[in-house]
Amino acid sequence: MRVLRTGVSSVAPHPHSEPAWLDTIMKGDCVAALNKLPSKSVDMVFADPPYNLQLGGDLHRPDQSKVDACDDHWDQFESFEAYDAFTRAWLLSVRRVMKDDASLYVIGSYHNIFRVGAILQDLGFWIMNDIVWLKSNPMPNFRGKRFTNAHETIIWAVKSKDAKPTFNYDALKTFNDDLQMRSDWHLPLCTGSERLKDDNGDKVHPTQKPESLLYRVLTASSNPGDVVLDPFFGTGTTGAVAKKLGRHFVGVEREQTYIDAATARIEAIEFGQGAGLEMQKGKRAEPRIPFGNLLESGMIEPGTELTSANGKHLAIVRADGSLKSGSFTGSIHKVGAMVQGQTSCNGWTYWHIKRGRKTSPIDDLRQEIRSRLRA
Ligand SMILES: C[S@@+](CC[C@H](N)C(=O)[O-])C[C@H]1O[C@@H](n2cnc3c(N)ncnc32)[C@H](O)[C@@H]1O
Repeated sequence: MRVLRTGVSSVAPHPHSEPAWLDTIMKGDCVAALNKLPSKSVDMVFADPPYNLQLGGDLHRPDQSKVDACDDHWDQFESFEAYDAFTRAWLLSVRRVMKDDASLYVIGSYHNIFRVGAILQDLGFWIMNDIVWLKSNPMPNFRGKRFTNAHETIIWAVKSKDAKPTFNYDALKTFNDDLQMRSDWHLPLCTGSERLKDDNGDKVHPTQKPESLLYRVLTASSNPGDVVLDPFFGTGTTGAVAKKLGRHFVGVEREQTYIDAATARIEAIEFGQGAGLEMQKGKRAEPRIPFGNLLESGMIEPGTELTSANGKHLAIVRADGSLKSGSFTGSIHKVGAMVQGQTSCNGWTYWHIKRGRKTSPIDDLRQEIRSRLRA
């Protein structure tokens, strides 16, 4: 793995035709580093910026042991104005390198996420969803003066209202035992062997995110071969999951300790490839087959009779792919709607054709053409 200065650490297979920054960690401030990337070069962004936690002094448990909270210098800002200026700057840099249909996921807590959300909208981003990460094992509220803070919020945004981002709806539904994936995600904090530790057994990073969270985000909004940017790379959770799932990554991180930890972590992972990475695709992802193709391919002859499933309505197929039923003429959908006195109809499932002794929806013929195209 290489580290660019704004350094590079390269991990995945890297053919010559691919840009030098692909599968690397760029060292430095993210705004400066992102200026070195071409515009519209990434398919997805996951950003876990400083939260500006504003911790006032050390936090102790009832047994007086010190809580390992995030009080690092990189999380500290002089004022909300300073935090807002920082947020605006990195969001603008990220926006420039996002492809038009790219997705941006930003995670935060009540300390910063409302500011981030407002700035996103001010900069022209369009918010698709906010997702609540419900922590199954949150840190307790030691002082007992507030609710236990048991969630974080992830905003999914795109560059404009017109963007058409990747959303692997069917894959997520299959993943979720055939139930639509909801916006409340119950996932544990990053603990156990996944948590990177230094030689003293201390956490390498105070806010390492769980791989499960990135797995879900990347499954939802990217495809194998896509490029995923993380401008606040930390221990490289995004890069690790991207590599497992056969996506490319580019990360930016200021601190060398974190770059070293991320480099070793990602180097130990095999770049995912092959049939195991393919995802469930829904009907919308299938090639469009107009009804006329059934005539062109000889599956239906002009003059063929189609019927409704109950046999009540009958239509004749004409050479141009239109139907005639009594005084009604038009597309399979239009005539299907008119004979029923409805405003719309899916002609593919409404009209049936007799083949041998069997009557089946004309959609079966469409599926046969699709299978031939895939073969
Ligand atoms: C909340 S942590 C990200 C943790 C990461 N998601 C993980 O799983 O390890 C934010 C990271 O951004 C880095 N950082 C802060 N400000 C930065 C900046 N202006 N440019 C680049 N990196 C920065 C910090 O050093 C820190 O590692």
